[in-house]
Amino acid sequence: MLVRLLYASRAVDTIGAALIDAIIAESHAHNGDHGITGVLCAYPQGDVFMQALEGARNEVNRLYQNIVRDPRHTQVTLLDYAEISERAFANWRMGRVDLNRVNLSTILRYSERAQLDPFSLPGKRALALLLELSTTMSVVGRGEPLK
Ligand SMILES: Cc1cc2nc3c(=O)[nH]c(=O)nc-3n(C[C@H](O)[C@H](O)[C@H](O)COP(=O)(O)O)c2cc1C
Repeated sequence: MLVRLLYASRAVDTIGAALIDAIIAESHAHNGDHGITGVLCAYPQGDVFMQALEGARNEVNRLYQNIVRDPRHTQVTLLDYAEISERAFANWRMGRVDLNRVNLSTILRYSERAQLDPFSLPGKRALALLLELSTTMSVVGRGEPLK
């Protein structure tokens, strides 16, 4: 049985390329072995993360509990959790979205301001934005298939 979990959090330090690279590398190492796919959105030079995790319920739940304890971020806030019949991010062990590079009108369509604030966005709307980003080439990643 598959689930998709969406959360937002705030980085403890300003988000730099090295932090994102480290998280993506950890995700690639772990997620392939555990059947997890997803997308990590961040504002480089800002502090907002938003991440979707998909996979088996026990795997997603275990990873989320691990992520919540990660000292590199705080205010980890569950936005949405649902059983799904198919993955939306099957191409990405952990794709990444640079929110500074996303078309502002795309963000504006879903939110009050052109700066994404997932903490004030209804979970389903945040998810709709992510799904749109996944179909508009805004998600980048190595895209190796799952083992
Ligand atoms: C914003 C954020 C997103 C993360 N996403 C993942 C992920 O998708 N997969 C993963 O294995 N670790 C992810 N991590 C790292 C985990 O929190 C944890 O450090 C990693 O799984 C290693 O855990 P371990 O040392 O207990 O093995 C993320 C961390 C942060 C701060």
